[in-house]
Amino acid sequence: MDIREMILTRRTVNNYTPEKVPDSVVEEALALSLWAPNHKLTYPWVYTWLGAETRARLGDLNAELKGANPIKAKAARDNVVTPSHLISLAIKRSEKVERQHEDYATLSCSVQIATMFLWQHGIATKWSTGGWSMHPRAYEIIGLSPEEVKLEGCLMIGRPQIMPPTPERPPLAQFLRRTT
Ligand SMILES: Cc1cc2nc3c(=O)[nH]c(=O)nc-3n(C[C@H](O)[C@H](O)[C@H](O)COP(=O)(O)O)c2cc1C
Repeated sequence: MDIREMILTRRTVNNYTPEKVPDSVVEEALALSLWAPNHKLTYPWVYTWLGAETRARLGDLNAELKGANPIKAKAARDNVVTPSHLISLAIKRSEKVERQHEDYATLSCSVQIATMFLWQHGIATKWSTGGWSMHPRAYEIIGLSPEEVKLEGCLMIGRPQIMPPTPERPPLAQFLRRTT
């Protein structure tokens, strides 16, 4: 795939096969993600490679947040547990609002780098900001201090079971102003 095709065919995937993708590919994706532009070289990333026990606890949290319906609770648990890998995304807290804003931009660029690299290998992703992934209890489960870092969701990684339909993107003219 050339870069244009990769950009156009990448989708946020909700349904993953249980197949494990190699750790080495995920590690390489994360290492490459550190090459995102990073103003002031703040190195804001706090990635956490979530193990099975932690994921089970986050799955329970998601199930609890979804309420008492057992079908919804199972789906909520499966959602967290099924993808091959789950990486929690966080950034270091900064006193300065602008710095925090820039650091979040860096994280966003990083996620896209990782996502595109994985997609080149036929591995799909979803950046999830579901309530469970940033919940006050998620800090304790993941082992992070809310005073020091800010959770920004999780990156789900795995082989796609169902590729979702391509959502519309309105034409550029709708978003581009030109000045004299
Ligand atoms: C910061 C961020 C948070 C997101 N959070 C979620 C989420 O919690 N759940 C979800 O299903 N998709 C989430 N997405 C994915 C978007 O919904 C998705 O990009 C959008 O529907 C367009 O689909 P596409 O990525 O396949 O083009 C998130 C995307 C971003 C950039």
